[in-house]
Amino acid sequence: MARVFSGIQPSGDLHLGNLLGALVNWVNHQEEHEAVYCIVDLHALTLPKDPEELRSSTLELAQLLMAVGLDPDKCTLFVQSHVPEHSQLAWLMECTVSYGELSRMTAFKDKSDRSEFISAGLFTYPALQAADILLYDTDLVPVGDDQRQHIEITRDIAERFNHRFGETFVVPEHVIPPAGARIMDLQHPERKMSKSQHSVNGTINVLENPDSVRKKIKRAVTDSDGEIRFDFESKAGVSNLLSILGAAKGDSPEEVAKSFERYGDLKSAAADAVVDLLLPIQERYADLQSDPAETRRLLQAGAEKAQEVASRTLTRAQQNCGLLQA
Ligand code: TRP
Repeated sequence: MARVFSGIQPSGDLHLGNLLGALVNWVNHQEEHEAVYCIVDLHALTLPKDPEELRSSTLELAQLLMAVGLDPDKCTLFVQSHVPEHSQLAWLMECTVSYGELSRMTAFKDKSDRSEFISAGLFTYPALQAADILLYDTDLVPVGDDQRQHIEITRDIAERFNHRFGETFVVPEHVIPPAGARIMDLQHPERKMSKSQHSVNGTINVLENPDSVRKKIKRAVTDSDGEIRFDFESKAGVSNLLSILGAAKGDSPEEVAKSFERYGDLKSAAADAVVDLLLPIQERYADLQSDPAETRRLLQAGAEKAQEVASRTLTRAQQNCGLLQA
């Protein structure tokens, strides 16, 4: 069975774009693969964070992921800082990647342009991400296209380490999830739905109440030609509604387009589908929230499961690169 690894930062809230784009695939992968999912709290520290907020968003994200369908019996779900091997291997990764390679990372350039305090950790972020992935002898990393450079540098680091010190790491492949829908902002359908754009009316939170979901979808930007077809180039707003409805129902947007003639009907159907999708998630989330101790117990069990694999890989790497065994 192929091993799949993915990571998600505990910052901001989950929105419909995350749910229909990435998380649907995460849930599917746990059925077909050996799936390892990590809440990357150490990566969150690369930008200034309020301690209480980091702590609560880490726990909340774990609860949300379980509510969405990640099942600790089927996958390994854990918090990065609970498995110290991530920090330990990150140092070896930092010593395997060059300053020049890290300087070419576009994610670093974007984030450092927007931040007044540029931490060294923000610069070496890809080394920690490489450690995350390589610790688990990962075959496949299902992440969006925005992570392409990070996966490529991980492969380069693995190959270089193997070349220098002998076979140590599995060289992972990047898979761009095929099933995930690209969900756009409801008010600015030319850009992706995003938690960082501060587009309150363009973004639907996974925990949003039904009234608010309906209002936002009703107010979604369309166009004036009145035609319903899936064509992102010239009809971004309508196409986005078709994507949302299609993804929520498990149909293709092209197929969904055939059933509607009026924008108003499409919007009500999309709103119903999103509400139907979110309500059970919100109920499971409320259940999990009522018992935080249980979530912590599940996360601890996840960390123990992860550590069994991670500690073996770390030891192999330490020995191969010449560290004296303790
Ligand atoms: N950099 C990823 C993001 O911003 C998060 C991440 C950290 C990750 N470690 C990972 C993703 C390992 C995949 C594999 O989304």
